[in-house]
Amino acid sequence: MRQIPGAWRRTAAGAGLVGPDGSIRPTIFAEMSALAARTGAINLGQGFPDEDGPAQVLEAARAAIANGVNQYPPGRGIPDLLAAIAEHQQRFYGLHLDPARHVLVTAGATEALAAALLALLEDPDDEVVVFEPYYDSYAAIAALAGARLVTVPLRWPDFQPDLDDLRAAVTDRTRIILVNDPHNPTGAVFASEVRDEIVRLADRHDALIVTDEVYEHLAFDRPHVPIATLPGAWDRTLTISSGGKTFSTTGWKIGWITGPAPLVDAVLAVKQFLTYVNGSPFQPAIATGLRLGDDFFAVIAGALLTKRDTLGAGLRDAGFDVSVPSGSYFTVADAGPLGATDAAAFCRELPERVGVVAIPLTAFATPEHSSDYRTLVRFAACKRVEVLQDAAARLSALA
Ligand SMILES: Cc1ncc(COP(=O)(O)O)c(C=O)c1O
Repeated sequence: MRQIPGAWRRTAAGAGLVGPDGSIRPTIFAEMSALAARTGAINLGQGFPDEDGPAQVLEAARAAIANGVNQYPPGRGIPDLLAAIAEHQQRFYGLHLDPARHVLVTAGATEALAAALLALLEDPDDEVVVFEPYYDSYAAIAALAGARLVTVPLRWPDFQPDLDDLRAAVTDRTRIILVNDPHNPTGAVFASEVRDEIVRLADRHDALIVTDEVYEHLAFDRPHVPIATLPGAWDRTLTISSGGKTFSTTGWKIGWITGPAPLVDAVLAVKQFLTYVNGSPFQPAIATGLRLGDDFFAVIAGALLTKRDTLGAGLRDAGFDVSVPSGSYFTVADAGPLGATDAAAFCRELPERVGVVAIPLTAFATPEHSSDYRTLVRFAACKRVEVLQDAAARLSALA
C-alpha cells in the first residue's frame, strides 16, 4: 500500500483538521448526531428540517431526472438557474445582475465559501475577519487557505457586534470581511449600523466582503437586507446563498455566489477544480423554487417563527435563559441557570438525561475564546411543531 504523502497530512494537520496521530477529527455535529442515533434522542443539534419543502420543487427534480437531465451541467450552472437567481436578486433586493457574468452555481453555500476564500486570499499575511461564534467551516477554510482568522465577538444576549470591536479588527491586513446574516449559530440579524460600518471599513482598508446569506428568507422581524445593496458595496462584495434552507432541501447542495464579474470569475477558477459541477437535476428544481410566488416566501419565515416560539417557551419553562433570535434555524439558550458550567459536557449528558440533543456554542468559537460561551447551547427550531413540543416536554424534566 502506498503511503499518504506527508505533505497532505501536514497541510490538513496544520489547519487543525487532523489530530497528531493523523486521525480525522469528527465534528461536534457528527458526534452529537451519532449520540442522537444511539440514544434515540430528539436531534435538535444539526440544522436540517424534518419536513419536505414545496411539492413543485420536488416534482421538478423528479421530472428532470425522468427527462434525462443527468449528465454534467455547464460549469457556471444551467442557464435557467442562472437566470432564476438573477431574477430573484432583482425581485427581492432590486439588484440588477447579468446571469452570464454575475452568477455562479456551486455545490452548496459551503463550496461557494471555500472557493471564494481559496480564490481571494493571496498571501500568508492576509487576514479574514469573522464574527464569533461562527459557522465552523469558516475557520477550517481560512486555515486551509493559509490565512489568519481575526474574530469580532458577538456577546450574549443579543449577539450584535460592538462597532469599536469591529473597527479594531479591520486593518490594512484584512483581505476579507466574512459576514453571515442572519447568523448561525446565534440567530442574530445585524443592525443597519453594523452593515454600514462593514462597508465603510472595507472601503477604508480596501478589503473584500463575502456574505453568507443562506437564511435570507428566514428573518422574522423585517425583510433581509443584503450588504451588496448598500451604497459603495457592490464592487467589493460577493454574496453567497443556497436553496437548502429556503426550500428544505439541505441534501441537494445547490448554492450560488453573485457579485462583480472579476470576483465571480476568480471563484470559478477555483471552483472548477473542486467539484467542477454538481446536481444537474436539482438545478432546474431550485430554479422552480426561486420563481415560486410571493405567498410561498411570505409564509416560510412565519412558519419558522411559530417553531421558534414553541422551542423558546419550552426552553424557558425548563429553566434556561433564552436569547430570542431574529432569524435563522437556531435559538441559543444559557444553561447556567440550570447549574451547567461547561456546555460541551452538558450537551454530552443531555441525551441520556432527557432525550434531547443540542450543540454547545463553544463548537463555533476558537479555543482561546470558548470560555466566553461556556454555558451557552444552540438548539435547532427547524423541526415539526409536535417534535418541538415533545422536546419541550422532555426538557421540562431539567427544571
Ligand atoms: C451559515 C451557514 N452557511 C452555510 C451553510 C451550508 O450551506 P449549504 O448546505 O448550502 O452548503 C450552513 C448550513 O448549516 C450555514 O448555517
